[in-house]
Amino acid sequence: MRPLIVVNFKTYETAHGVGAEQLARAMEVADSSTDLADFVAVVSAFDLSSVVAAAPSLQVWTQHLDPVGFGSNTGWLHPSTAMERGASGTIINHAEHKVSLDHVENLLEQLPEGFPVCACAADLDEARALAALAPTMIAVEPPELIGGDVSVTTADPEIVSGTAAIVKSVNPDVRVLCGAGVKNGADVAMAIKLNTEGVLLASGVTKSTEPEKVLADLVSNL
Ligand code: G3P
Repeated sequence: MRPLIVVNFKTYETAHGVGAEQLARAMEVADSSTDLADFVAVVSAFDLSSVVAAAPSLQVWTQHLDPVGFGSNTGWLHPSTAMERGASGTIINHAEHKVSLDHVENLLEQLPEGFPVCACAADLDEARALAALAPTMIAVEPPELIGGDVSVTTADPEIVSGTAAIVKSVNPDVRVLCGAGVKNGADVAMAIKLNTEGVLLASGVTKSTEPEKVLADLVSNL
């Protein structure tokens, strides 16, 4: 499988509403310009429909889902509605939106086979516990490095390779990503060298004045 470049739009001003559509289109171009990696946009639930319409060939995920069904669940993010609106995957348990292991387990039980779920882990223990639940992938992101200028692959390479080793020892089918501070092609190449299968990043793309250049650079060392 090709490495994954997963860009989390969070609630960045440049990556919401019309900005989300523009960034997704730039990602769609980057995605179709390379066979070396697959790009994924992770957008606000509010922006799912418009982003999917703007960039129909791009994988678009939601940033969170709740394990609820149809019925009286005010304000929760209902998986079936997200899928109807074009979500083709989700992240869960992001450092900025933590949930319990039960939440992750119940969600995995509810989602259809083949719907990618990327569970985020802050450290090796959390990665081990999440791996036992068999999500599609686990992204390790030390919270203190999120949004910073130094990539986790430089600041703490051991947590990256250590997570890959632990996750694979629990369940070899779970893919491993890393994130926090990832900004360029050298960081992505190092992530792969440290035995991951891709990266999860945000500010390197969303805060750039030239996102097209950054997106092209991310795959330039693969
Ligand atoms: O979800 C990705 C994220 O938490 C990493 O953010 O800004 O460090 O790339 P950033």
